[in-house]
Amino acid sequence: MAESITITDNRTGESAEIPIIDGGVAATEWSKLLPGVWFYDPGFMSTAACQSSITYLDGDAGILRYRGYPIEQLAERSTYLEVAYLLLKGELPTPEQFETWKHEITYHTFIHENVRKRFLDGFHYDAHPMGMLVSAVAALSTFYLDAKEIFDADARAKQIIRLIAKMPTLAAAAHRFSIGMPFVYPDNSLDFAGNFLSMMWKVAEPRFEADPVLARALDILFILHADHEQNCSTTAMRVVGSSHSDPYSATAAAAAALYGPRHGGANEAVIKMLTSIGSIENVPAFVESVKSGQGGRLQGFGHRVYKSYDPRATIIKRTAEQVFEVTGKNPLLDIALKLEEIALSDEYFTSRRLYPNVDFYSGLIYQAMGFPLEMFPVLFAIPRTSGWLAHWQEMLDQDSKIARPRQIFTGTEARDYVPADRR
Ligand code: CMC
Repeated sequence: MAESITITDNRTGESAEIPIIDGGVAATEWSKLLPGVWFYDPGFMSTAACQSSITYLDGDAGILRYRGYPIEQLAERSTYLEVAYLLLKGELPTPEQFETWKHEITYHTFIHENVRKRFLDGFHYDAHPMGMLVSAVAALSTFYLDAKEIFDADARAKQIIRLIAKMPTLAAAAHRFSIGMPFVYPDNSLDFAGNFLSMMWKVAEPRFEADPVLARALDILFILHADHEQNCSTTAMRVVGSSHSDPYSATAAAAAALYGPRHGGANEAVIKMLTSIGSIENVPAFVESVKSGQGGRLQGFGHRVYKSYDPRATIIKRTAEQVFEVTGKNPLLDIALKLEEIALSDEYFTSRRLYPNVDFYSGLIYQAMGFPLEMFPVLFAIPRTSGWLAHWQEMLDQDSKIARPRQIFTGTEARDYVPADRR
């Protein structure tokens, strides 16, 4: 076999030749020789859990492609809605296909009045918008009785459209509730990003029109965040989806995974870090404190997969300049630039191959556009929904087994129950 490895069990002297399929060692063949001996791989550092044809990522070369298209070209020339179509269907839409897709999404942006009036209005006044979003997405499954028909092509397509379309509505509703402002209904005459900004910021004007530079910047951020192969939240989507639960429940699980500061919460942590640094003069001392382990991690730096500059960070840095021309410069930008300059020339960071990731500059843009920190993970969840759904659909079409890893048991051996008076 040309593509294979040979392993020998030194306890028995038995050997087996294990095929390498598409760069992966076939675990089923492995376990024929070593039944009951598990790969111990917490965090899936060396485990490919699936095959996927959606997103290609080369962390050493800093390459990211959706369905073969480089992220740089998509960010420059495409729109989020077109990218969502591409991720889900595998090809860019023709003009007619895109018109139908856009119409479908636009006409599914409304949420049932009970989602807002009875469900969202029931939250405590200071509820975190991400907590509200996670719960509201799960609650949607109770409004669509066909949600469980996951192997019915029409029903599945309908839920996908509903989810992509309603995420901005739920996200904006959560924000409006948290600041005590009335809910703004979707405006079908606006595009995806413009409609979201209208639902966020509209006050008393008859029609809210976002600054086109800001709407385009947001759309670019949506493109950059739409998918990132087997990240923590997408893995959650595939794991929950593998039990054949409905897509709303699986999306809620994925959004819950995204909520954590190691994943979708990192851009919020970047702003908090830059704010606590306070001024450029304090940057060298802060970098030293990170290196000594006293100052925590440099937020927005490092990535499990990228071991060079995150290509999304390059695009975001450029987008930030365009946004700041409209909003005025975010005062934290100079601190961020200095931090990047010092870190990129410091042996501690270069030897560990720690470079800015997608979150280093995205928070600065969101903040300059007026989004409160709590909305940052919500802004991530809106576009990532199309990526989650593309993986969910792919996983179902692959007839995947239910996700069920094994464990290495480290607990106590069997022992007899001890009555309370003898403990
Ligand atoms: N600042 C300082 N040191 C770091 C950092 C950092 N941001 N990230 C990693 N290191 C060091 C770490 O201390 C370790 O050093 P040593 O070998 O001396 O023990 C080495 O680099 C390897 O770190 P690791 O924890 O084994 O790497 P990982 O792949 O498990 O972690 C990460 C990846 C993203 C969780 C981590 O780099 C990190 O915590 N970064 C800051 C948070 C952040 O920006 N997260 C956003 C990720 S991108 C968006 C997304 O995908 O959601």
